[in-house]
Amino acid sequence: MRGVFMNIAVAQSGGPTCAINASLAGVLRAGQKSGEIDKIYGVMNGIEGILNNRLVDLSQIISDEEKFQLLLRTPSAVLGSCRKKLPYYHENNEIYEKITESLRNAGIGIFFYIGGNDSMDTVAKYAAYLREKSIDDIKIIGIPKTIDNDLCVTDHCPGFGSAAKYVCTTVQEIARDSNVYSMPSVTIIEAMGRHAGWLAASAACIRANGEQAPQLIYLPEAVFSSEKFIADVKEKMKEHKAVIAVVSEGVKTADGKFAAEEYQSGQKDVFGHAYLAGIGKFLEKLVSEKIGCKVRSIELNVMQRCSSHIASAEDIDSSAAIGEAALEAALAGKSGCMMTFIRESDKPYSYSIGTTDAAAAANSEKLFPSEWINDEGNDVLPVAYDYFMPLIQGEVYPVMKNGMPVHIVI
Ligand code: F6P
Repeated sequence: MRGVFMNIAVAQSGGPTCAINASLAGVLRAGQKSGEIDKIYGVMNGIEGILNNRLVDLSQIISDEEKFQLLLRTPSAVLGSCRKKLPYYHENNEIYEKITESLRNAGIGIFFYIGGNDSMDTVAKYAAYLREKSIDDIKIIGIPKTIDNDLCVTDHCPGFGSAAKYVCTTVQEIARDSNVYSMPSVTIIEAMGRHAGWLAASAACIRANGEQAPQLIYLPEAVFSSEKFIADVKEKMKEHKAVIAVVSEGVKTADGKFAAEEYQSGQKDVFGHAYLAGIGKFLEKLVSEKIGCKVRSIELNVMQRCSSHIASAEDIDSSAAIGEAALEAALAGKSGCMMTFIRESDKPYSYSIGTTDAAAAANSEKLFPSEWINDEGNDVLPVAYDYFMPLIQGEVYPVMKNGMPVHIVI
């Protein structure tokens, strides 16, 4: 593809993060520097924007260094997102023809899709269609992102480090607050992570700074039982006035059901995923009934994926770098792949960037290693810190106006 002057397009998909815009910024910067790219389009609302021809000219919008720096620091997906599942091309050829027509009409030779497992499903399916039809003037490249950190093959996912830094910081601050009274208390902190507990587990890092909290951590990778939870809390209350438990939203009972199923709406997204949330409230009620002490539950909710004021510099920098590398990979002729981080060393931390077949990352989840969970299934072992620590290093200070962060809005 070298030497061909063309347009490119970038879209964002799935749940947002603090770093998804950094990857967009990376593609933009690499495109502007390459000398091989004409227009750089942003596609609104993921693949839906291709189908509806909703393109914006990114070079016009991110027109100077000031705006570029704001883009790096703006949380969530500036281009909007979607959760749309494509059929296989042999089930519905038309949708693929429409995508191809829209890309061709805009002269787009490379389409970058920034997203998680389900978005890599889109990359893999469209790449399969392009191969089947022998279309070689369009390339598609997946750029990973997800605060869940559950994409296979890559060492970690852009957006995770910032979310983990927020979780660590917030749990530490809650630990200060929960210790002010002399009466015993229990605080339950609910973290996101549907099937993978990476984010909840990352809260353990604060112990590296001498914290005793969180006293308990529950992940979807270990069987959860309400009775055991109450017994664990009672045990910890013998030693600690304030007990803090971090619980993954997706903890499951021995029969594989979500523990807080009765609190969930039963609604599902187009990928068939249940809308989770509610385990914290459920456990708060349980502690109140069974122990009867002061108890609070705190759902970190979307704050854990959009709190860019405590973003990890390592995350933002590497997310931009993987975006830049994605353009390089496409110009070198790659298509149908997802960009990956390859960890070269923990201490000092170093990584390189590679690629894998998007199909290898689509529709599968990388779970938190069971050997990093204690035998009781209620905590994370220190071996996990070496993995987490490099990902939460460094700060990216927001641009401020009137005492508040400034974001870029498209
Ligand atoms: O993108 C992953 C994730 O943040 C999960 O951790 C969470 O369960 C889900 O998205 C929430 O989805 P929504 O964006 O639809 O609220």
